[in-house]
Amino acid sequence: MTPTRRRRSASVPRADVVIVANRLPVDRVVEADGSTSWRRSPGGLVSALAPVMTAQEGAWIGWPGDVSADEEDLEPFQHEGMTLVPVSISALEYEEYYEGFSNATLWPLYHDVVAKPEFHREWWDSYIDVNQRFAGAAADIAAEGAVVWIQDYQLQLVPALLRDLRPDLRIGFFLHIPFPPAELFSQLPWRRQLLEGLLGADLVGFQLSGAAQNFIRLVRQRVGHKTHRDSVYLPDGRIVTAKAFPISIDVDKFEELAQSESVQKRAAQIRDDLGNPRRIFLGIDRLDYTKGIYARLRAFSELIHDGHFTVEDATFVQVASPSRERVDQYRILRDDIDRLVGHINGDLGRLGRPAISYLNASFPQEEMAALYVASDIMVVTPFRDGMNLVAKEFVACRMEEDGALVLSEFAGAAEELRQAYLVNPYDINGMKAQMLEAFEADEKELTRRMKAMRKTVAENDVDNWASNFLADLSAVRPGHAKQVKPAKRS
Ligand code: G6P
Repeated sequence: MTPTRRRRSASVPRADVVIVANRLPVDRVVEADGSTSWRRSPGGLVSALAPVMTAQEGAWIGWPGDVSADEEDLEPFQHEGMTLVPVSISALEYEEYYEGFSNATLWPLYHDVVAKPEFHREWWDSYIDVNQRFAGAAADIAAEGAVVWIQDYQLQLVPALLRDLRPDLRIGFFLHIPFPPAELFSQLPWRRQLLEGLLGADLVGFQLSGAAQNFIRLVRQRVGHKTHRDSVYLPDGRIVTAKAFPISIDVDKFEELAQSESVQKRAAQIRDDLGNPRRIFLGIDRLDYTKGIYARLRAFSELIHDGHFTVEDATFVQVASPSRERVDQYRILRDDIDRLVGHINGDLGRLGRPAISYLNASFPQEEMAALYVASDIMVVTPFRDGMNLVAKEFVACRMEEDGALVLSEFAGAAEELRQAYLVNPYDINGMKAQMLEAFEADEKELTRRMKAMRKTVAENDVDNWASNFLADLSAVRPGHAKQVKPAKRS
């Protein structure tokens, strides 16, 4: 998306649909002449929701992605048919609420404790403060009886805080990342407060039904409410529903990109630049320790080392976009990957033929589409992932029904993309075997698998995801506590 100039709204209209997310769907960019403009910010969340909100002329409340934003930057403004409401975060809150509680406590805790979560009371206090600020902004802009949809782990207290301020609203919450089993979640010193925060919503959405079940079980155990199947029965008669809504992508947009002349040309150029090897392996991730980048690069290098193929036969393109760079675990990961790529290329590369082309950078969607089209084997091996939209984007771009997807069974996407070459990312030998099988597979086999996966992705795109969630949320009668009693306690 090209950056757009800000257009200030004369008066801020109240909205019938409001999204509340940690980030605005745009980042503030300071131009050379000192003026500011806006560019779409990275992350699956934004690509998933921006088209829906533009169509609905809704409001989006979020952080502008810059702690130095001045007062004018914090005025609501119009962008691509929606009202954007910036919420400020101080430098200290950035450290404590964003880098700290969100990304060094909740992120590792919710991803199977792949890294050790840190628990600090001042981080928790900051998380409460910022969640209160978001809830206040939502209360101000939502029209009477509006639908408010809160996004992700950074804002789990907002549903209850907002309900206190505005009991007339229909409130939904969607968690984009995994929700852990009770055995892990229970480590959290503030486990009950977080559950009570989420229970402020009428509808709590998760990527997978297993996550919804984890939540229901925890509410029963730790808060003591009655539950039955996907419902929680609160003492005041309100019913909260917890259900799975697997997120997806804008399939049409990726198909269009993949077919476009510029992407086709760029894809051919990429293959040429890489020396036209028989097979191109591809990884595209945020540089995050949950993604299993280290293990997959090792598996690939061992296949060359063991003599299954040479650097002339196959090459690996790994794109790792910088993320949360000041958080310790992310710095350590970056150093580890830098070192590993250096070792592998030093040991196995030949002149002009590195085993791995490693790009520590973010790219626009056109370039990503060209990479999906240019490559043969997409390798997505997270240790734990809520969904993983890259896997679905790759499938959407394979218009010729060819190419292989190697996919971790611990990515949410694995519940839908059953015809991928499924792997356990902790099992390096198992991963090598599947990567080799994908490398050697004949066209017929690849087409059989890809055809089935393309059908699955086409059947549930991001519009379906959003409209399913919003339809369920709209069915809730605002301000009316339902008096239905559960048939029995589960
Ligand atoms: C994941 C999270 C999103 C987040 C994105 C980028 O997809 O679920 O909430 O926005 O990562 O991370 P960042 O910390 O840069 O917002």
